[in-house]
Amino acid sequence: MKSLWASDVEIGGKNPLNDDLKVEVAIIGAGMSGVLCAYKLKEKGFDVALFEAGKTGCGQTKNTTAKITSSHNIIYDYLIKHFGQDLARQYAMANEKAITDYENIIKKHNISCEFEKADSYLYTNCEDNNFTKEFEAAKSLGLPVELVYEIELPIKIKTAIRYKNQAMFHPLKFINHISRDLTVYENTKVTAVTEISDERYNFVIDANNHKVLAKYVVVASHYPFINVPGYYFLRMHQERSYVIGLKNAPLPEGMYLGVDSDGLSFRKSKNILLLGGAGHRCGDEGKIDCYNYLKLKAKEIYPGSCVEYMWSAQDCVTVDKVPYIGYFSADNKNMFVATGFGKWGMTNSMVAANIISDLISGIDNPCKEVYSPQRFKITASIKSLFEDALESAKGYGKNITLPKNEDLGIVPKGRSMVLTYEGKKVGAYRDEDGKIYLVDTTCPHLGCQLSWNQDELSWDCPCHGSRFDYKGNLIDNPAINNLEVLSD
Ligand code: FES
Repeated sequence: MKSLWASDVEIGGKNPLNDDLKVEVAIIGAGMSGVLCAYKLKEKGFDVALFEAGKTGCGQTKNTTAKITSSHNIIYDYLIKHFGQDLARQYAMANEKAITDYENIIKKHNISCEFEKADSYLYTNCEDNNFTKEFEAAKSLGLPVELVYEIELPIKIKTAIRYKNQAMFHPLKFINHISRDLTVYENTKVTAVTEISDERYNFVIDANNHKVLAKYVVVASHYPFINVPGYYFLRMHQERSYVIGLKNAPLPEGMYLGVDSDGLSFRKSKNILLLGGAGHRCGDEGKIDCYNYLKLKAKEIYPGSCVEYMWSAQDCVTVDKVPYIGYFSADNKNMFVATGFGKWGMTNSMVAANIISDLISGIDNPCKEVYSPQRFKITASIKSLFEDALESAKGYGKNITLPKNEDLGIVPKGRSMVLTYEGKKVGAYRDEDGKIYLVDTTCPHLGCQLSWNQDELSWDCPCHGSRFDYKGNLIDNPAINNLEVLSD
């Protein structure tokens, strides 16, 4: 299912890597963060190349709701509590600067990408002290907030926090324009990064059977596929969320996000209203019918509307809610990472570009400390560390004993089953025409057992969020290989 953005913009068009290469900065991943990082580094005079396994912007950039805001759900009270006032302010200011940076770049290059300034609202329908505390926290950090008790949406609320002067745009129109003059190798899959000792270069990268020598490497591939060092797989999980695009719904001026457990996301784009929600941890088999849930909500809130678009997004969430932006590991100052943006990929991509381009240029970025991947805030992380470990343990232990079943005829059309077939554990999906597809449901990343996702017809990993279509093709990393396909 194509997103609204991908439906009206053709992405890609750059050639794959077809020779060995030497470059000053190699960026792995041409999503929003990689492209912005390349843009900023090129502005600073660096020789940069991007390596993208698919097409420019083909990952989560095409699936975002593209709100450019500092209103990142309930975060500032939490940050002050666990990181302290100074680091919380760094986070707030880095995101506010990101909004201004987008505006400046768009003006400078006259980019036609539906950029629009708008207020962003967090709303609740509960009497909740925490909500007032969040407002006080955001205010104390200098964010442009006010409390309001009425909003333009036809839903009931108790209170909302209004963040003034935020923005929204069309992410693919923006990234298409900004990447035009950058060196991007599309359909170029990086499979290994190795440190070397050479006078001029610190790394050799394997991509499309060619060698790339680079002085610096930036890993901006959504979820890092390099497990060691960094150990990001121990401190991040992935979450899925869903969006439908509605025609014939009244269009709000502002952007909205509900912070209660059933909260929804709203924004307009031209004549379409984007309604989002129904989020859950990747690989959670208990969460089904997410699109239907949104369709029912649309019927309830906007009875005359009709669904024109449906799509989903996948986000990396860190154990302490703050992205990892900076040095990939403590003992290597030439390799960088940008990941774990939560659901706030647009501003955090710009923050990543600012911090990493400053680190490489030797400029002291005032917001780098809060984002440092080497931080460890035990009180902020302990609950999520425990939950992630529990989910991983469940993922590894799944399907240890399976019913023996050699008869694939029991798999109904449009459904899947995990069963033993010819002595092997297999995931079987039968399409609507009756054709059966068999795959090994062991995740090629670190061996977790995959779960079936009936909404998307995909095999999803509950451990770190890799996803594969029913034919076994990789959709989302950190895995880099497809599933083993078995024949019936
Ligand atoms: Fe890590 Fe599947 S994504 S084991």
